[in-house]
Amino acid sequence: MVKIEDIRGGRLPTHVALIMDGNGRWAKQRGLSRTEGHRKGANRVRDIIDTCLELHIPYVSFFAFSTENWQRPQEEVNVLMDLLSQALDKYADEAIEKQIKLIVLGDFNRLPEHVKGRLAKVQEKTKDFDRLKVILALNYSGRWDILEGARRLINHVRQNPDFDPNTLTEEIFRKFMPGGDIPDPDLLIRTSGELRISNFYLWQLAYTELYFTPVFWPDFDKNEFLKAIADWQQRERRFGKISEQITTKDG
Ligand code: FPP
Repeated sequence: MVKIEDIRGGRLPTHVALIMDGNGRWAKQRGLSRTEGHRKGANRVRDIIDTCLELHIPYVSFFAFSTENWQRPQEEVNVLMDLLSQALDKYADEAIEKQIKLIVLGDFNRLPEHVKGRLAKVQEKTKDFDRLKVILALNYSGRWDILEGARRLINHVRQNPDFDPNTLTEEIFRKFMPGGDIPDPDLLIRTSGELRISNFYLWQLAYTELYFTPVFWPDFDKNEFLKAIADWQQRERRFGKISEQITTKDG
């Protein structure tokens, strides 16, 4: 078991992003329906949020539904959307009580009305909180995110035709991307043994440390999360520099 006090003693990530994978395989191994896997998986989200609060990690992102997930059987899409609606109903008050801000990233338009309405309500009610920002990537893909930034930039240039393209920097461009104010993840965790990014934060992961674990998402509990953070604490992030140029907060 990893002790939370040991984790607290070290440097902590500002932003952890999670690709929750393996709900279906977890269920299959147990002779259960995929729905059961997703239900168990949805409950895990809360454990991770509570641990972030405990550790004072200020940003956590969950890849909850990708642009490609619409290709799943309609029944399964409905189950995922229903689980999301239920979670929003169940945890809205708790989010307010714990001063959690909900941020949704993705193309809202295609989401069912019952999900859109609930998301809008919780986002509005939590918009002034900043103890923990929970980012739900929904109908999201990294390429959509970059394209959306380009669309917004083009609109800006139409209104400001004097804009000099040579002044465009990474910092300026990312302000046009949805979620442009969110710091890049320090740590990306993917469960279930798949070694892919699957079109998640493509721009944002440039220097992120990647952690892959064979554990299926429904089994990814607090201890597994602490293990991932402990592993991250051992790594040296050089951002393209050499070891001797790096001075970490804890020396
Ligand atoms: C991957 O498992 C998981 C998803 C596609 C969705 C994640 C959704 C949840 C955990 C539930 C709803 C979300 C919230 C935030 C309440 P998979 O189905 O791809 O598993 P498999 O690869 O083993 O089939």
